[in-house]
Amino acid sequence: MYRTHTCGELRPAHIGQTVTLAGWVQRSRDLGGMTFVDLRDRYGITQLAFNMEVHPELCEQARKLGREFVIQVTGTVVERTSKNYQMDTGEIEVVASSLTILNASLTPPFTIEEQTDGGDELRMKYRYLDLRRPTLKNNLILRHKMALETRNYLSSLGFMEIETPFLIKSTPEGARDFVVPSRIHHGEFYALPQSPQTFKQLLMVSGYDRYFQIVRCFRDEDLRADRQPEFTQIDCEMSFVERQDILQTFEGLTKHLFKTIKGIDIGEVPRMSYDDAMKYYGSDKPDIRFDMKFVELTDIVKGKGFSVFDTAELVVGICAKGAAGYTRKQLDELTEFVKKPQIGAKGLVYVRYNADGTLKSSVDKFYTEEHLKDWAHHFGAVPGDLMLILAGEKDKTRKQLNELRLEMGNQLGLRKKDEYKLLWVLDFPMFEYNEEDGRYYAMHHPFTSPKKEDIPLMDSNLALVKANAYDLVLNGSEIAGGSIRIHDKKLQAKVFEVLGFTRDEAVEKFGFLMNAFEYGAPPHGGIAFGFDRLCALMGGSDSIRDFIAFPKNNAGRDTMIDSPSSIDPLQLKELGIYFNK
Ligand code: AMO
Repeated sequence: MYRTHTCGELRPAHIGQTVTLAGWVQRSRDLGGMTFVDLRDRYGITQLAFNMEVHPELCEQARKLGREFVIQVTGTVVERTSKNYQMDTGEIEVVASSLTILNASLTPPFTIEEQTDGGDELRMKYRYLDLRRPTLKNNLILRHKMALETRNYLSSLGFMEIETPFLIKSTPEGARDFVVPSRIHHGEFYALPQSPQTFKQLLMVSGYDRYFQIVRCFRDEDLRADRQPEFTQIDCEMSFVERQDILQTFEGLTKHLFKTIKGIDIGEVPRMSYDDAMKYYGSDKPDIRFDMKFVELTDIVKGKGFSVFDTAELVVGICAKGAAGYTRKQLDELTEFVKKPQIGAKGLVYVRYNADGTLKSSVDKFYTEEHLKDWAHHFGAVPGDLMLILAGEKDKTRKQLNELRLEMGNQLGLRKKDEYKLLWVLDFPMFEYNEEDGRYYAMHHPFTSPKKEDIPLMDSNLALVKANAYDLVLNGSEIAGGSIRIHDKKLQAKVFEVLGFTRDEAVEKFGFLMNAFEYGAPPHGGIAFGFDRLCALMGGSDSIRDFIAFPKNNAGRDTMIDSPSSIDPLQLKELGIYFNK
């Protein structure tokens, strides 16, 4: 037997027992008469004590142990003279009577402790060592518990987990596919699924009316802190349901996860239409941990000679409570912030509502204090507040003000990591116009059903058609998205037509689904959660990388295994792939 206990297990109740532990040497301290070693495994750290007087040879051996050596120790559990109540095992130590080195280790390239001296790149290259650190270990434990609770909860509601294939044909989620060349059929390729969307719909046709799968998805898109080329979804689909059933079921799952994992009751999740989200927050994923809603001033600011406002389609602002004390320098920095190329505003107008009740703006030349009072009234501002206003084309200005609102939320400490605010965003537009190629795309995916009452608009004004689609937003991040699907063949054909697919193209791409729909497709709908994102947010982080055991870096590379990499010319030949150099 390698061990009787783990390194996180021993407590005062074990005092007097002879135990055997095995693990990694985190550090050792040689105090002359005594040598102490911190022994670590997945469960915790236990202090080992080697006594020079009692076991001089053993003590000599212990002094020579390097960091990360794998050892096995037998000894007696004793009460510590100086206790460490920060550690679970801090009241005891194990006085060693035998020591076996199970394996030596090279000196690790960085310290494997909570606080490490290793940079990002180095830790990615030695991910297997980084995973020994408590932070990452706790993240993976959280992820495991989330997956377990998800499986238990959905199974208890009659959902079945069914696997779908990875070597498939392109799926329509809007990113680029990763492709796999076929050896047997030269010149032909499989695509890795961007999601199991079409398969889960086929499962509905097959009668598996409650499906879920914790499943890997692959998307070749630009990476960010909350995006990985391979990521995991909790993918779900239900038959004989309407939107309300889906929202209720998955609000239930979300509540269950918050309760069991974080001990938090999240209560009823508010709902907001996409149009309102854009009007009041300039985003389809508003962070509602703080208020600072947009206030439109377009009608009251025009005609006073300030051409920026006079010519703007929209003049809109936010009121930052208690921020009138912002200095000129801070306001200049905010102006620089909105003028950054990524945000692209031309300028920023501010109005300080001073504590003494006077108002001071950056456009005093054009507006009297009476005008500014009227603006303040619209904002619901009081002395001490700061109003920040942008103007320009409607959609762009809203997006710019969204960035400014989030920045102000950060600066004023209103986006607390341990506060959780969920929101359903409903009724997304069905189609999105792309200026570059002058055509409409499905905003969610082409199997999403338009809202019944909007179907007639498909012949007149596509921009106005709303989809029966919904997103679940947590603290300003989209953690899930889904829709009620089209199950009527004619309507599906119409959507394909509107999206510019010829009949032949539609058949070529999705013929299998259209055929299946000829054999009794039930009304159905579903949703998919971004599992990595949900874990990261629940773990208090914006970066999903820390919640994936072996992620890719920001350039899409795995520097540990050195991938992607070139392959053997022979292998290429077998696949029928030839490069012209
Ligand atoms: P959607 O494309 O909205 O919907 O994806 C669902 C959720 O997956 C997460 N997500 C990602 N997470 C990490 N890295 C990525 N690259 C990435 N891309 C998406 C997001 C998102 O909300 N088939 C539909 C679902 C449905 O209609 O049922 C789908 O995949 O959190």
